Amino acid sequence: MNSRLPAIATNQAWPFRAGLMKQAIQIFKKPVDALEIGTWYGEGSTQIWLEHLMAGSTLTLVDPWKPYSSASDLSDAQYDYAGMDAQVLQAYLSTILSVCKFENNQPGKVAIDIIRGESERVLSRMRDDLFDFIYVDGDHKYESVKRNLIDAKRLAKKEFSLICGDDLERLPSPELLEIAHINRTRDYLRDPHNFHPGVMLAVHEAFGEVGMEEGFWWVFCKDGKFFCA
Ligand SMILES: C[S@@+](CC[C@H](N)C(=O)[O-])C[C@H]1O[C@@H](n2cnc3c(N)ncnc32)[C@H](O)[C@@H]1O
Repeated sequence: MNSRLPAIATNQAWPFRAGLMKQAIQIFKKPVDALEIGTWYGEGSTQIWLEHLMAGSTLTLVDPWKPYSSASDLSDAQYDYAGMDAQVLQAYLSTILSVCKFENNQPGKVAIDIIRGESERVLSRMRDDLFDFIYVDGDHKYESVKRNLIDAKRLAKKEFSLICGDDLERLPSPELLEIAHINRTRDYLRDPHNFHPGVMLAVHEAFGEVGMEEGFWWVFCKDGKFFCA
């Protein structure tokens, strides 16, 4: 860990997005099947879903809990990617503990499955039309997000579902898409860009237009059609 850099947050559901995330899960007034791609310590987004999912819901958590920074990420002097990669076992154990704690405190409320594996492989083995709610917050580099969104569209229940995700800080323009394409192996671009290039490019390619506030993005599926509202 690089002590000159800020510590990596164990809860990455940033306060300015948490309200939007609550609103997203609360649109469901019945038990649902929810999928989270990218759980980290289980202290952020996971807790929001657990707090607001109705009794009888299921929550599937998919994360490899393995180092995943690219060489270009590791050369970023302003973020401790190496320190993040070094915490994956702690993050995995924390998730197991917090899920057990939830199950002890609220027995039988939500059936939670923890799947330790790369989402690209894990999701490809799941059948179509499985989930009402899908949250995409795994590896933010282009190839991974692209694969996640192809699977999310297939796994989303076609009658009605919501796909949403983290870290779309800016809506695309031709200029930004060009920058995103050039930097698609990067996690994040700092000043003057300040956005996740892989998330922007992959979300744009998958859906065209999406809803976005404070970097939280969403799209609905109704009768097999994807749209934002
Ligand atoms: C930004 S963090 C998730 C933060 C979490 N949702 C929260 O609110 O605290 C990204 C997570 O994606 C995971 N990840 C990395 N590669 C992945 C992959 N191929 N599939 C799924 N998750 C992945 C990382 O291990 C990490 O836990």
